[in-house]
Amino acid sequence: MTVVMDDVVTRESKYVLPIYKRNPVTFVRGEGVRLYDANGREYVDLLSGIGVAALGHAHPGLARAVAEQSQTLIHTSNLFFHPLTGELAERLSKLSGLARAFFCNSGTEAVEACLKFARRYWHTKGAPRAEFVALDESFHGRTFGSLSVTSDEHYRAPFEPLLPTVTFVRTNDPAALTAAVTTSTAAIIAEPVIGEGGIRPLTPAFASAITDACTKTGALFIADEIQSGLGRTGHPFYFQALGLKPHLVAVGKALGGGVPIGAALFSQEVADTVSYGDHGSTYGGNLLACRAALCVLGELFDGGVAENVKRVGVSFERRLRALAAKHAIVKEVRGVGLMWGLELTRDAGAVVPAALERGVVVNRTAERVVRLLPPLVITEADADEALNRLDAALGAVGASA
Ligand SMILES: Cc1ncc(COP(=O)(O)O)c(C=O)c1O
Repeated sequence: MTVVMDDVVTRESKYVLPIYKRNPVTFVRGEGVRLYDANGREYVDLLSGIGVAALGHAHPGLARAVAEQSQTLIHTSNLFFHPLTGELAERLSKLSGLARAFFCNSGTEAVEACLKFARRYWHTKGAPRAEFVALDESFHGRTFGSLSVTSDEHYRAPFEPLLPTVTFVRTNDPAALTAAVTTSTAAIIAEPVIGEGGIRPLTPAFASAITDACTKTGALFIADEIQSGLGRTGHPFYFQALGLKPHLVAVGKALGGGVPIGAALFSQEVADTVSYGDHGSTYGGNLLACRAALCVLGELFDGGVAENVKRVGVSFERRLRALAAKHAIVKEVRGVGLMWGLELTRDAGAVVPAALERGVVVNRTAERVVRLLPPLVITEADADEALNRLDAALGAVGASA
């Protein structure tokens, strides 16, 4: 396949809704942690399609599973049984400790399901509660419910009015959370490691405040593990590391390794309040998506990938702290496992093209943060090479400051 970059850009700019400000690179092929552009240039991927390609690119096992399934049966709808839904739900239940799963196609849909079923829980109990408590730096998605619990004005303002029943509190401020959660709160929603908002793990003190507020008021807790879940932190879910016991969990991104699938996980207590027909999705949990997800979970948790995250995560952090010591523009290093942010003293926008020029893919989030979400299969040697390239990019940006 020959791809001419100019043709790609011209056609897109004519026909595609211009809502993504793309970097001027056209990727045409991947292998493991490497991506190749239309000119044959190689890049080390420290972003994995924003935390999706957990097994890297063109993973032979995932490619085989998807190919086999597409030659057998891709989709039949949720009007019928198929053999993989229950298998995937059982796998997720064993990993999370939650009883049941609902499958959808994206992260935002997983969050929507959690919000709806938190309301459903209180409705069934005969004591409806409408309110949600969410965090200041949160990002939960772009559909109306998810956007309503996302704080960033930039995302919200053009689409208001959103749900009026949401209170935002300062992240990692236990007193603010305690004051905001009342017996009118249907649920607290939080990312155990805030992603888009600048890679901020919740503190143990804040996690305890969530548990205490739920115990005191009956409010449910929704853990949005869309970015932090499925091995990214070295744990199946980061709520486990924090000792949290969510009633609902939203999962997405890495679940299908690139094949779109999301899931909302439910405690039995919440699942017991649901009725047939309450919610649904045409594609949700079809055979192709479930087959991909079973392959991904097998590799992550039986194939040693989650252990790789723990091992490589240690040297990755060491290297990042060394970069922070070397470059005055790096103000803080935050993260866990293979989920990291470098907060700069200035807008991080210039780092992305400087990194691409040097053959490494990174992302800017929360204005000043360079976000790193490498494929979870990355080796120490590949991580070292990628961070050498990032080192050079930070040097160039720092010198031009
Ligand atoms: C924590 C979190 N929740 C929800 C979403 C929304 O997921 P999607 O873009 O698949 O709808 C994202 C996406 O970045 C996310 O990071």
